Amino acid sequence: MAWIELENITKNFGKVSVIKNLSLQIEKGEFVSILGPSGCGKTTLLRLIAGLEVADKGKINIAGTDVTFSPPNVRKIAMVFQNYALYPHMTVFKNISYPLFIKKIPADEIKQRVNTIADNLKISPLLDRYPQQISGGQQQRVAVARAMIQTPNVFLLDEPLSNLDAMMRIEARGFLKYLLDKIGTTTIYVTHDQSEAMALANRIVVMQNGIIQQVGSPKDIYDKPSNIFVASFVGNPPMNLLQATINSTQVKIGDQYLDIKESITNLRKPLQNGKVYLGIRPEHISIYHEDSKNDGPIVEGEIFVSEPLGFETIITVIVSDQQIKVIKFGGSKNLKPGEKIKLQFKKNKIYIFEFETGYRINEIQGDDYDDH
Ligand SMILES: Nc1ncnc2c1ncn2[C@@H]1O[C@H](COP(=O)(O)OP(=O)(O)O)[C@@H](O)[C@H]1O
Ligand SMILES: [Mg+2]
Repeated sequence: MAWIELENITKNFGKVSVIKNLSLQIEKGEFVSILGPSGCGKTTLLRLIAGLEVADKGKINIAGTDVTFSPPNVRKIAMVFQNYALYPHMTVFKNISYPLFIKKIPADEIKQRVNTIADNLKISPLLDRYPQQISGGQQQRVAVARAMIQTPNVFLLDEPLSNLDAMMRIEARGFLKYLLDKIGTTTIYVTHDQSEAMALANRIVVMQNGIIQQVGSPKDIYDKPSNIFVASFVGNPPMNLLQATINSTQVKIGDQYLDIKESITNLRKPLQNGKVYLGIRPEHISIYHEDSKNDGPIVEGEIFVSEPLGFETIITVIVSDQQIKVIKFGGSKNLKPGEKIKLQFKKNKIYIFEFETGYRINEIQGDDYDDH
């Protein structure tokens, strides 16, 4: 039995169905990220696991116990809320020690445990301050310390970095990963930020409208998205998705034909009226040169804009009325809006999605066909 088992969970708020027959298993020690856009039900799912909400249907099992109807305190779960929920009238020390205080742990043991954790989180100098006297990043560490001071079965984090500015967020992300690896507690980390999920988790659960779209390792989610939602949600800039039509050897984008035989030899489904989305990631497109050794298909387009970012340049190209984003490493000289340009796609990195359902229907190298 898995450490956490969610079985056919359904949750409605009035007439609104927020979680729809969701099942998920998490093993002990895993670091799982729930990734999805705002409003897709991530916080509700965490609250169901924590026991702050009760499911309308389904079962929840944690550490071998059926907790479907158990109150939060018996579930041995620690949660870091999105807004940290620190007690404003308590010092940092009091905030961190509160979970131990209500369990009536002796004062000297509390002191020792708070000191150890504060040391680990590098917040020892802040213990006498109040939450409003410390920065957002420090508040986040205090919230994490308060959760970690218990020895929970599961650690639930709801967008813990979303209140920090961009620089702090990357710093705090690395620190959080280091810390959570070190303690090894089973962790469920909710975020709408694909780069956080990719950077932190062993496994990513992509959610949309209360439904799981795909579960897999960060690499699988990135390399083998099962549908256009996952493909376009992960990656920055995300995968290009071009409306196209297809026959047995070629794909047509606008009035241009591309030979993509290798990408469509083994389709999962017969094509209906040949309409598809062709997916290609920005980093799998290069600017074509006469001496190119690559033999991937080529399209012609016109430069719309180029955005140099230092290490790389993002070029937006219009190909038959559709936009394609390309990542070019190095400089961006000679990339002027309005100029004609030829782009070459890496041929084993072309994705074909069914137009009607959005499902990926072609095989990607190393694909074992079992991801949805
Ligand atoms: N207590 C509630 N009462 C009514 N609707 C709610 C409640 N909590 C959440 N919702 C609705 O459920 C949906 C999912 O919310 P939430 O779980 O907070 O999403 P996320 O965390 O992914 O942004 C939203 O449409 C939200 O308005
Ligand atoms: Mg939320």
